[in-house]
Amino acid sequence: MLSSLVLVGASLATHASAAACSRSFLESATTTYLKAQAAGQPSLLTLSPTVSYAENDTPMEISKGVLASPMTIDYSRSIYDSEACTAFTELNAASSPHPYVIHTRIVFASDSISTIESVVTDDGDWIFNATAHLNYAKQEKWDPIPEAARDTRATLKAAADAYLDQWGNPSHPVPLGTPCARLEGGMYTGTGNQSAANTCLMGAFPSPLKIGNRRYVIDETLGAVSIFNEFPFIEATAEDKAMPSSNLFRVQGGLIRYIHECTVCATRNCGR
Ligand SMILES: *[C@@H]1O[C@H](CO)[C@@H](O)[C@H](O)[C@H]1NC(C)=O
Ligand SMILES: *[C@@H]1O[C@H](CO)[C@@H](O)[C@H](O)[C@H]1NC(C)=O
Repeated sequence: MLSSLVLVGASLATHASAAACSRSFLESATTTYLKAQAAGQPSLLTLSPTVSYAENDTPMEISKGVLASPMTIDYSRSIYDSEACTAFTELNAASSPHPYVIHTRIVFASDSISTIESVVTDDGDWIFNATAHLNYAKQEKWDPIPEAARDTRATLKAAADAYLDQWGNPSHPVPLGTPCARLEGGMYTGTGNQSAANTCLMGAFPSPLKIGNRRYVIDETLGAVSIFNEFPFIEATAEDKAMPSSNLFRVQGGLIRYIHECTVCATRNCGR
């Protein structure tokens, strides 16, 4: 009895969110988000009265956040998760007077925004260089995957999780493709002669890391997964403090092709 009630509930929830969260709804809401950020006008967004807004894992008022600062957006890439009614955007504002690279996750409830959270990186954050990030991000191909070749949601999530799980266990297998390139701040592993190589493998950390508080956006059409997470160790002045971090993955045929990481530091370049 209980399980059939749960099933009915799950099925109703799926139908309810499917209506509100078509891909075209998420695309148009994301376009509005980018306009709001460019103009520095959060009032352009359709917000739930109880919206929660956070930057770098710190809740704040939108009017005090980066969304209220106009900026020139030189490039953006968005992914859409109709099932979870969420969208993710990577934006680069290299040519703004204050350059940023921002990862944003937006959760919708019905047709309004219930949660906006961003990892906001700028000068002094982990290997930050917006100009270099722009240059490499623009060269990558994240075209829609032909329908017959798409990975399942479970395969995409498992591939992305495996990359972060490996930080806790160096022998954990990670499905990295060849080629595979990682864009970490403004540092790119896939330059020059490495452009055809798998350069995504991370060496072992001095001790195993648990990458927790993972928040996902999964897009089967683009073979893309975003994981907001908490990254301990990286900040040398406080290695047990988990820093706000975001990883974006492109997966093709079950294998990771690209990884983008944005990580916030407490001190310049995380004291490294
Ligand atoms: C940032 O990257 C650009 C392009 O690769 C480079 O010209 C510039 O010197 C870099 N800036 C710093 C501070 O490393
Ligand atoms: C690329 O690297 C491989 C292996 O390191 C080397 O054999 C090859 O000559 C290099 N190619 C170019 C164009 O530099």
